[in-house]
Amino acid sequence: MKKYLIMAVSAATLIGGVALFADDERYERKVYAKSEKAVQPDMPKKKLNEFETLYQKECGSCHMAYQPEFLPKRSWSKMMDTLDNHFETDATLDVNDHKTILTYLTSNAGDSKYTTKHFSKMSNSVPRDEAPLRISQTPYFMKEHRGIPKRLIEQKEVKSIANCAACHTTANQGIYSERAINIPNYGRWDD
Ligand code: HEC
Ligand code: HEC
Repeated sequence: MKKYLIMAVSAATLIGGVALFADDERYERKVYAKSEKAVQPDMPKKKLNEFETLYQKECGSCHMAYQPEFLPKRSWSKMMDTLDNHFETDATLDVNDHKTILTYLTSNAGDSKYTTKHFSKMSNSVPRDEAPLRISQTPYFMKEHRGIPKRLIEQKEVKSIANCAACHTTANQGIYSERAINIPNYGRWDD
């Protein structure tokens, strides 16, 4: 799949990058790329790609297809149970697609043992007795984004903090490294 190809390329760039720009290293370590390790032994890669394509199609039409790693299993289960009223929209699916997407989401969730360390930070920050439906309301997300001025989020080029790809230029590939951040009408982010 194209996605994996891009990741392989960026992994290669990464290795080169670390060697060439030693003081950029801390950004490189923050790459949220899904590694091969995240492919579960009980879900063959071919099947995972198939599931992922369906997920992109069905859950990526109104907004980007958010990476399942950002929320725990219990959040995805709750979301899939309430698709008839999904943030004031109807996102219901037919029975088979529903089943496939639920499996895809829960087996790649932040609390799945195959999920990479970086990716599970948002999910791990959620108190055990809570099941938020928004990645943007998990404690770690809020902590990481609290310094962004409101006007940069409300501006028409972004509109919502849930519009990840407006600022994270490579969000669709699952890469959230700091150097891939470009906030419209602001630019690179330095903390
Ligand atoms: C008919 C349009 C539509 C479809 C289809 C849809 N969504 Fe959404 N979704 C929305 C809207 C609208 C929001 C709220 C966006 C905002 O606040 O900017 C949202 C928000 C979300 C959020 C929370 C984002 C955040 O962190 O604030 C998640 C997670 C999500 N959707 C997952 C899914 C999944 C999984 C599917 C597929 C089963 C799906 N969506 C299909 C319309 C849709
Ligand atoms: C308005 C721009 C903007 C939007 C929209 C946005 N982010 Fe961010 N994000 C940032 C900035 C800026 C940082 C860096 C914060 C820092 O390091 O101080 C960041 C950091 C991150 C990080 C890295 C945290 C770490 O451990 O280094 C992740 C992951 C992330 N965002 C995911 C998301 C996801 C997922 C969404 C959508 C649900 C999203 N962001 C929406 C601007 C944005």
